[in-house]
Amino acid sequence: MSDRSPFETDMLTLTRFVMEKGRKAKGTGELTQLLNSMLTAIKAISSAVRKAGLAHLYGIAGSVNVTGDEVKKLDVLSNSLVINMLQSSYGTCVLVSEENKDAIITSKEKRGKYVVCFDPLDGSSNIDCLASIGTIFAIYRKALGEFILVERDVKIKKKGKIYSLNEGYAKYFDAATSEYVQKKKFPEDGSAPYGARYVGSMVADVHRTLVYGGIFLYPANQKSPKGKLRLLYECNPVAYIIEQAGGMATTGTQPVLDVKPEDIHQRVPLILGSPDDVQEYLACVQKSQAGR
Ligand code: AHG
Ligand code: MN
Ligand code: MN
Repeated sequence: MSDRSPFETDMLTLTRFVMEKGRKAKGTGELTQLLNSMLTAIKAISSAVRKAGLAHLYGIAGSVNVTGDEVKKLDVLSNSLVINMLQSSYGTCVLVSEENKDAIITSKEKRGKYVVCFDPLDGSSNIDCLASIGTIFAIYRKALGEFILVERDVKIKKKGKIYSLNEGYAKYFDAATSEYVQKKKFPEDGSAPYGARYVGSMVADVHRTLVYGGIFLYPANQKSPKGKLRLLYECNPVAYIIEQAGGMATTGTQPVLDVKPEDIHQRVPLILGSPDDVQEYLACVQKSQAGR
Protein backbone atom coordinates (compact mmCIF):
# COMPACT_ATOMS: atom_id res chain seq x y z
CA MET A 1 0.00 0.00 0.00
CA SER A 2 1.30 3.44 -0.81
CA ASP A 3 1.92 5.82 2.10
CA ARG A 4 0.87 8.71 -0.15
CA SER A 5 -2.39 10.39 0.67
CA PRO A 6 -5.00 9.88 -2.05
CA PHE A 7 -5.15 13.68 -2.23
CA GLU A 8 -1.55 13.83 -3.47
CA THR A 9 -2.40 11.89 -6.58
CA ASP A 10 -1.59 13.45 -9.94
CA MET A 11 -4.87 12.13 -11.35
CA LEU A 12 -5.95 14.50 -14.12
CA THR A 13 -9.57 15.43 -13.54
CA LEU A 14 -11.39 17.42 -16.20
CA THR A 15 -11.74 20.39 -13.84
CA ARG A 16 -7.99 20.34 -13.21
CA PHE A 17 -7.29 20.10 -16.94
CA VAL A 18 -9.55 23.07 -17.69
CA MET A 19 -7.99 25.18 -14.92
CA GLU A 20 -4.42 24.34 -16.00
CA LYS A 21 -5.08 25.12 -19.67
CA GLY A 22 -6.92 28.31 -18.72
CA ARG A 23 -4.02 29.53 -16.59
CA LYS A 24 -1.46 28.76 -19.33
CA ALA A 25 -3.53 30.55 -21.98
CA LYS A 26 -3.36 33.74 -19.85
CA GLY A 27 -6.71 34.83 -21.25
CA THR A 28 -9.67 36.49 -19.60
CA GLY A 29 -10.80 33.28 -17.90
CA GLU A 30 -14.16 33.50 -19.67
CA LEU A 31 -13.79 30.12 -21.38
CA THR A 32 -12.55 28.46 -18.17
CA GLN A 33 -15.58 29.82 -16.32
CA LEU A 34 -17.87 28.66 -19.13
CA LEU A 35 -16.40 25.15 -19.17
CA ASN A 36 -16.61 24.89 -15.40
CA SER A 37 -20.29 25.90 -15.54
CA MET A 38 -20.89 23.29 -18.24
CA LEU A 39 -19.16 20.67 -16.08
CA THR A 40 -21.34 21.59 -13.11
CA ALA A 41 -24.47 21.22 -15.26
CA ILE A 42 -23.26 17.81 -16.48
CA LYS A 43 -22.56 16.64 -12.90
CA ALA A 44 -26.07 17.77 -11.89
CA ILE A 45 -27.55 15.89 -14.89
CA SER A 46 -25.56 12.79 -13.98
CA SER A 47 -26.86 12.98 -10.41
CA ALA A 48 -30.45 13.42 -11.64
CA VAL A 49 -30.06 10.44 -14.00
CA ARG A 50 -28.83 8.26 -11.12
CA LYS A 51 -31.75 9.28 -8.90
CA ALA A 52 -34.33 9.23 -11.68
CA GLY A 53 -36.23 6.22 -10.36
CA LEU A 54 -36.54 7.58 -6.81
CA ALA A 55 -37.35 11.11 -7.95
CA HIS A 56 -40.00 9.93 -10.42
CA LEU A 57 -38.07 11.37 -13.32
CA TYR A 58 -38.59 8.45 -15.65
CA GLY A 59 -41.11 8.73 -18.44
CA ILE A 60 -42.25 11.27 -20.92
CA ALA A 61 -42.96 14.96 -20.43
CA GLY A 62 -45.90 14.74 -22.81
CA SER A 63 -44.60 16.68 -25.80
CA VAL A 64 -42.37 16.29 -28.86
CA ASN A 65 -39.41 18.54 -29.51
CA VAL A 66 -38.72 20.64 -32.60
CA THR A 67 -37.19 17.73 -34.52
CA GLY A 68 -40.08 15.42 -33.68
CA ASP A 69 -38.61 13.36 -30.81
CA GLU A 70 -40.72 12.46 -27.80
CA VAL A 71 -39.49 14.61 -24.90
CA LYS A 72 -38.68 12.82 -21.62
CA LYS A 73 -38.83 14.44 -18.16
CA LEU A 74 -35.07 14.09 -17.90
CA ASP A 75 -34.65 15.91 -21.24
CA VAL A 76 -36.56 18.88 -19.83
CA LEU A 77 -34.64 18.92 -16.55
CA SER A 78 -31.26 18.50 -18.28
CA ASN A 79 -32.06 21.28 -20.72
CA SER A 80 -32.95 23.73 -17.91
CA LEU A 81 -29.82 22.81 -15.97
CA VAL A 82 -27.54 23.47 -18.96
CA ILE A 83 -29.30 26.72 -19.93
CA ASN A 84 -29.23 28.07 -16.38
CA MET A 85 -25.61 27.15 -15.72
CA LEU A 86 -24.39 28.50 -19.06
CA GLN A 87 -26.26 31.77 -18.77
CA SER A 88 -24.97 32.36 -15.27
CA SER A 89 -21.39 31.70 -16.43
CA TYR A 90 -21.40 35.14 -18.10
CA GLY A 91 -19.57 33.53 -21.02
CA THR A 92 -22.30 32.97 -23.60
CA CYS A 93 -24.21 35.09 -26.08
CA VAL A 94 -26.27 32.47 -27.94
CA LEU A 95 -27.39 28.97 -26.94
CA VAL A 96 -28.70 26.40 -29.41
CA SER A 97 -30.38 23.39 -27.79
CA GLU A 98 -31.95 20.29 -29.31
CA GLU A 99 -34.93 21.01 -27.08
CA ASN A 100 -35.58 24.62 -28.13
CA LYS A 101 -36.97 25.60 -31.52
CA ASP A 102 -35.22 28.98 -31.52
CA ALA A 103 -31.75 29.98 -30.47
CA ILE A 104 -31.70 31.45 -26.94
CA ILE A 105 -30.13 34.87 -26.62
CA THR A 106 -28.39 35.56 -23.31
CA SER A 107 -29.60 38.75 -21.61
CA LYS A 108 -27.31 41.75 -22.02
CA GLU A 109 -26.04 41.86 -18.44
CA LYS A 110 -24.95 38.20 -18.56
CA ARG A 111 -23.58 38.18 -22.09
CA GLY A 112 -20.15 36.79 -23.08
CA LYS A 113 -18.50 35.92 -26.37
CA TYR A 114 -19.26 32.21 -26.85
CA VAL A 115 -22.00 30.39 -28.74
CA VAL A 116 -22.78 26.99 -27.20
CA CYS A 117 -24.71 24.31 -29.11
CA PHE A 118 -25.81 21.30 -27.10
CA ASP A 119 -27.90 18.18 -26.87
CA PRO A 120 -28.60 18.10 -23.12
CA LEU A 121 -29.34 14.37 -23.11
CA ASP A 122 -28.49 12.24 -26.11
CA GLY A 123 -29.95 8.76 -26.34
CA SER A 124 -32.99 9.59 -24.24
CA SER A 125 -34.93 6.63 -25.64
CA ASN A 126 -32.49 4.59 -23.52
CA ILE A 127 -33.32 6.31 -20.19
CA ASP A 128 -35.85 3.85 -18.81
CA CYS A 129 -33.69 0.80 -19.58
CA LEU A 130 -30.58 2.33 -17.96
CA ALA A 131 -28.35 2.18 -21.06
CA SER A 132 -25.66 4.84 -21.54
CA ILE A 133 -26.82 8.37 -22.30
CA GLY A 134 -24.85 11.61 -22.29
CA THR A 135 -24.56 15.33 -22.91
CA ILE A 136 -23.00 16.66 -26.14
CA PHE A 137 -21.79 20.23 -26.55
CA ALA A 138 -19.81 22.39 -28.95
CA ILE A 139 -18.40 25.80 -28.14
CA TYR A 140 -17.90 28.35 -30.90
CA ARG A 141 -16.31 31.74 -30.42
CA LYS A 142 -18.78 34.30 -31.88
CA ALA A 143 -18.04 34.38 -35.68
CA LEU A 144 -14.99 32.37 -35.49
CA GLY A 145 -16.38 28.86 -35.29
CA GLU A 146 -13.95 27.08 -33.03
CA PHE A 147 -14.37 23.92 -30.98
CA ILE A 148 -12.54 23.22 -27.78
CA LEU A 149 -10.94 19.84 -27.26
CA VAL A 150 -11.38 18.50 -23.74
CA GLU A 151 -9.34 15.28 -23.91
CA ARG A 152 -5.60 14.96 -24.37
CA ASP A 153 -4.02 12.81 -27.05
CA VAL A 154 -6.75 10.26 -27.64
CA LYS A 155 -6.06 8.39 -30.88
CA ILE A 156 -8.42 6.12 -32.78
CA LYS A 157 -7.27 2.85 -34.40
CA LYS A 158 -6.51 3.00 -38.13
CA LYS A 159 -8.97 0.16 -38.70
CA GLY A 160 -11.43 -1.51 -36.36
CA LYS A 161 -13.50 -4.67 -36.15
CA ILE A 162 -16.94 -3.29 -35.30
CA TYR A 163 -19.68 -1.71 -37.41
CA SER A 164 -22.49 0.19 -35.76
CA LEU A 165 -25.78 1.26 -37.33
CA ASN A 166 -29.49 0.62 -36.96
CA GLU A 167 -29.74 -2.39 -39.24
CA GLY A 168 -33.49 -2.57 -38.70
CA TYR A 169 -33.70 0.07 -41.44
CA ALA A 170 -32.02 -2.23 -44.02
CA LYS A 171 -35.14 -1.99 -46.17
CA TYR A 172 -34.54 1.76 -46.55
CA PHE A 173 -30.72 1.70 -47.01
CA ASP A 174 -29.15 3.23 -50.10
CA ALA A 175 -26.95 1.07 -52.34
CA ALA A 176 -23.68 2.20 -50.73
CA THR A 177 -24.81 1.40 -47.18
CA SER A 178 -26.26 -1.97 -48.22
CA GLU A 179 -23.04 -2.91 -49.99
CA TYR A 180 -20.85 -1.75 -47.12
CA VAL A 181 -22.81 -3.70 -44.50
CA GLN A 182 -22.75 -6.79 -46.71
CA LYS A 183 -18.95 -6.50 -47.00
CA LYS A 184 -18.64 -6.35 -43.20
CA LYS A 185 -20.65 -9.55 -42.83
CA PHE A 186 -19.18 -11.44 -45.77
CA PRO A 187 -15.65 -10.07 -46.33
CA GLU A 188 -14.50 -10.72 -49.89
CA ASP A 189 -10.85 -11.16 -48.88
CA GLY A 190 -11.65 -14.10 -46.61
CA SER A 191 -10.95 -12.13 -43.41
CA ALA A 192 -13.17 -12.43 -40.33
CA PRO A 193 -16.50 -10.59 -40.40
CA TYR A 194 -16.90 -7.48 -38.25
CA GLY A 195 -18.87 -7.58 -35.02
CA ALA A 196 -22.05 -5.49 -34.84
CA ARG A 197 -22.81 -3.17 -31.90
CA TYR A 198 -25.58 -0.55 -31.67
CA VAL A 199 -26.62 1.01 -28.38
CA GLY A 200 -28.89 3.63 -29.94
CA SER A 201 -27.30 6.44 -27.91
CA MET A 202 -24.90 8.15 -30.27
CA VAL A 203 -22.76 9.26 -27.34
CA ALA A 204 -22.24 5.62 -26.37
CA ASP A 205 -21.77 4.31 -29.91
CA VAL A 206 -19.28 7.05 -30.78
CA HIS A 207 -17.43 6.64 -27.49
CA ARG A 208 -17.00 2.93 -28.16
CA THR A 209 -15.86 3.68 -31.72
CA LEU A 210 -13.25 6.09 -30.36
CA VAL A 211 -11.97 3.58 -27.83
CA TYR A 212 -12.13 0.33 -29.86
CA GLY A 213 -12.06 1.64 -33.43
CA GLY A 214 -14.46 0.70 -36.22
CA ILE A 215 -17.28 2.65 -37.78
CA PHE A 216 -20.54 4.30 -36.68
CA LEU A 217 -23.13 5.14 -39.30
CA TYR A 218 -26.38 7.07 -39.30
CA PRO A 219 -26.60 7.51 -43.06
CA ALA A 220 -29.41 9.03 -45.08
CA ASN A 221 -32.06 6.48 -45.94
CA GLN A 222 -35.37 6.45 -47.80
CA LYS A 223 -37.26 7.35 -44.61
CA SER A 224 -34.79 9.98 -43.38
CA PRO A 225 -33.34 11.52 -46.56
CA LYS A 226 -30.96 13.69 -44.52
CA GLY A 227 -30.25 11.16 -41.80
CA LYS A 228 -31.51 11.75 -38.26
CA LEU A 229 -28.70 13.38 -36.36
CA ARG A 230 -28.43 17.13 -36.07
CA LEU A 231 -25.39 18.99 -37.35
CA LEU A 232 -24.81 21.67 -34.73
CA TYR A 233 -25.11 19.77 -31.49
CA GLU A 234 -24.77 16.08 -32.41
CA CYS A 235 -22.63 15.63 -35.56
CA ASN A 236 -20.18 18.53 -35.32
CA PRO A 237 -19.00 17.91 -31.73
CA VAL A 238 -18.37 14.21 -32.28
CA ALA A 239 -16.90 14.78 -35.76
CA TYR A 240 -14.41 17.18 -34.22
CA ILE A 241 -13.39 14.72 -31.52
CA ILE A 242 -13.02 11.86 -34.01
CA GLU A 243 -10.95 13.99 -36.41
CA GLN A 244 -8.70 15.16 -33.59
CA ALA A 245 -8.16 11.51 -32.74
CA GLY A 246 -7.02 10.78 -36.30
CA GLY A 247 -10.34 9.40 -37.52
CA MET A 248 -12.75 10.63 -40.18
CA ALA A 249 -16.31 11.96 -40.07
CA THR A 250 -18.20 12.36 -43.33
CA THR A 251 -21.70 12.87 -44.63
CA GLY A 252 -20.82 10.55 -47.50
CA THR A 253 -20.18 13.50 -49.80
CA GLN A 254 -18.08 15.87 -47.65
CA PRO A 255 -16.41 16.09 -44.24
CA VAL A 256 -19.06 16.84 -41.61
CA LEU A 257 -17.05 19.82 -40.34
CA ASP A 258 -17.18 21.42 -43.83
CA VAL A 259 -20.97 21.54 -43.95
CA LYS A 260 -22.18 25.12 -43.87
CA PRO A 261 -25.10 25.30 -41.44
CA GLU A 262 -28.34 26.60 -42.93
CA ASP A 263 -30.64 25.90 -40.02
CA ILE A 264 -29.92 25.44 -36.32
CA HIS A 265 -31.68 22.05 -36.26
CA GLN A 266 -30.40 20.86 -39.65
CA ARG A 267 -29.82 17.13 -40.02
CA VAL A 268 -26.93 15.53 -41.90
CA PRO A 269 -25.93 11.93 -42.61
CA LEU A 270 -23.10 10.90 -40.26
CA ILE A 271 -20.49 8.23 -40.90
CA LEU A 272 -17.44 8.30 -38.64
CA GLY A 273 -14.66 6.24 -37.16
CA SER A 274 -11.33 4.65 -38.02
CA PRO A 275 -9.90 6.17 -41.22
CA ASP A 276 -9.56 2.88 -43.12
CA ASP A 277 -13.14 1.91 -42.30
CA VAL A 278 -14.59 5.28 -43.32
CA GLN A 279 -12.53 5.22 -46.54
CA GLU A 280 -13.96 1.81 -47.36
CA TYR A 281 -17.48 3.19 -46.88
CA LEU A 282 -16.62 6.15 -49.13
CA ALA A 283 -15.38 3.73 -51.81
CA CYS A 284 -18.84 2.11 -51.73
CA VAL A 285 -20.42 5.57 -52.15
CA GLN A 286 -18.19 6.32 -55.13
CA LYS A 287 -18.94 2.95 -56.68
CA SER A 288 -22.69 3.45 -56.33
CA GLN A 289 -22.44 6.97 -57.80
CA ALA A 290 -20.39 5.70 -60.75
CA GLY A 291 -22.97 2.98 -61.41
CA ARG A 292 -25.90 5.41 -61.56
P1 AHG B 1 -31.84 12.05 -28.74
O1 AHG B 1 -32.04 11.07 -27.62
O2 AHG B 1 -31.05 13.26 -28.34
O3 AHG B 1 -33.13 12.41 -29.42
O4 AHG B 1 -30.92 11.35 -29.89
C1 AHG B 1 -31.03 9.99 -30.17
C2 AHG B 1 -30.24 9.73 -31.43
C3 AHG B 1 -28.85 9.16 -31.20
O5 AHG B 1 -28.41 9.15 -29.89
C4 AHG B 1 -28.93 7.75 -31.75
O6 AHG B 1 -27.77 7.45 -32.47
C5 AHG B 1 -30.13 7.76 -32.64
O7 AHG B 1 -30.97 8.78 -32.18
C6 AHG B 1 -30.89 6.46 -32.63
O8 AHG B 1 -31.90 6.53 -33.59
P2 AHG B 1 -32.64 5.21 -34.15
O9 AHG B 1 -33.56 4.77 -33.07
O10 AHG B 1 -33.35 5.71 -35.37
O11 AHG B 1 -31.58 4.19 -34.47
MN1 MN C 1 -29.44 13.46 -29.50
MN1 MN D 1 -31.41 14.78 -26.75
